[in-house]
Amino acid sequence: MDRRTFSQLLAFGAGMFSADHVEGNAIAVDDESRKGPGVPDARENGAADRDAWPASPVTISDFIPLAKAKLPKATFEYITSGSEDEVTLRDNVEAFRRMRILPPLLHGVQKTNLSTTVLGQKISMPIMLAPVAALRMFHPEGGRASARAAASAGTICITSTSVGNSVEEIAAAGDGPKWFQLYVPSDRELARKLVKRAETADYKALVVTVDLGERKDADLRNRFSLPKDMLLKHLRDIGHTKVSERNSYDELVAFNAKAWDVSLSVDFFQWLRRETKLPIILKGVLTNEAVQQSIDLKLDGIVVSNHGGRRLDGMPASIDMLKEVVEAADGKLEVLFDSGVRRGGDVMKALALGAKAVLIGRPQAWSLAAGGETGVKLALEILRDELTNAMISSGCATVDEIDASLLMPATQA
Ligand SMILES: Cc1cc2nc3c(=O)[nH]c(=O)nc-3n(C[C@H](O)[C@H](O)[C@H](O)COP(=O)(O)O)c2cc1C
Repeated sequence: MDRRTFSQLLAFGAGMFSADHVEGNAIAVDDESRKGPGVPDARENGAADRDAWPASPVTISDFIPLAKAKLPKATFEYITSGSEDEVTLRDNVEAFRRMRILPPLLHGVQKTNLSTTVLGQKISMPIMLAPVAALRMFHPEGGRASARAAASAGTICITSTSVGNSVEEIAAAGDGPKWFQLYVPSDRELARKLVKRAETADYKALVVTVDLGERKDADLRNRFSLPKDMLLKHLRDIGHTKVSERNSYDELVAFNAKAWDVSLSVDFFQWLRRETKLPIILKGVLTNEAVQQSIDLKLDGIVVSNHGGRRLDGMPASIDMLKEVVEAADGKLEVLFDSGVRRGGDVMKALALGAKAVLIGRPQAWSLAAGGETGVKLALEILRDELTNAMISSGCATVDEIDASLLMPATQA
């Protein structure tokens, strides 16, 4: 496979890419020797009980060493790394740290209510699970564990096309609210069927990711690849029923390389708008022009995102673009946010700049690897508690009271 093909394949997240297959690089989530600290697991313990964790994560970053101990190096680095020099990856997190909050005095609150709505759907807090590929590589329960964790936290799980479970498997995992993130099969009929399957399985919105082109040094060095069985299952889950065990790995890789439409344009969104009544959200927006296009296309929402610094290195921190994007959106579509959220205070800052809710990518992946469903539930509860505390400290009883007046002017991006 030439380098160009390789980086094109990376455009779609793990579910679709492959380096040359390396024996022994198969994912070893079930390998006892890699299990690491005895973190309780949702399969044994359904509750997000902090006392049950020997290492007691109290912050999102506490999950990182736990995930590292459980996963093969290549898998951990696939989650954690960013593209090229990781300038954007670092900036996503540091830009939040640069922002300052100035809470009003004598404006105490006794009780907080974190609930809000996104596209008319009520959620218990403004924090949702971002679409993340290959969750089944991080934990055997994969996307099902994430979906269940989101449901019990009262929030929405956005399932990636590349998650490693079929649309129906995730739907059967629990009855919590779900959205489907669409990578687009190049066979339009298959794309149509996939959209219909998501509708039938009761997903409530489609998120179309438009920032493509993932190429990460760590993944190249580690020759990170999807094992054959996962690649085969992924292709079959999408609807490619003709691929089978009899195909060699290289044949599957070649098939996969042609299976996806990388050239999304206005035509595609016009087509999708005709095909479905579900709300459509465009993920990967950083500029006013993209907001205007989304409005012209009559889309329902956007996610301000640089894909967590996994795509084009050198893009600005997402949070630095949020204010401008919200102004351009002018209330005509719902604005969600991701990239770099690690604290409840970060959620408050994003809301202060006008986001309706935030999505978490790596925090979900680390906590899933560390403890399955229990891990993701705990990560969500930590963020909920931190946000509650930030709201109490700044005199906000409800999320609607969080606004730009809380931010020091120089840091309003
Ligand atoms: C391991 C991993 C896989 C991802 N796979 C997808 C994907 O399949 N589709 C997608 O739209 N975004 C994907 N993303 C990006 C996330 O949806 C989100 O934009 C990003 O992780 C947010 O940044 P954060 O990791 O700092 O929270 C992935 C992120 C990670 C960490």
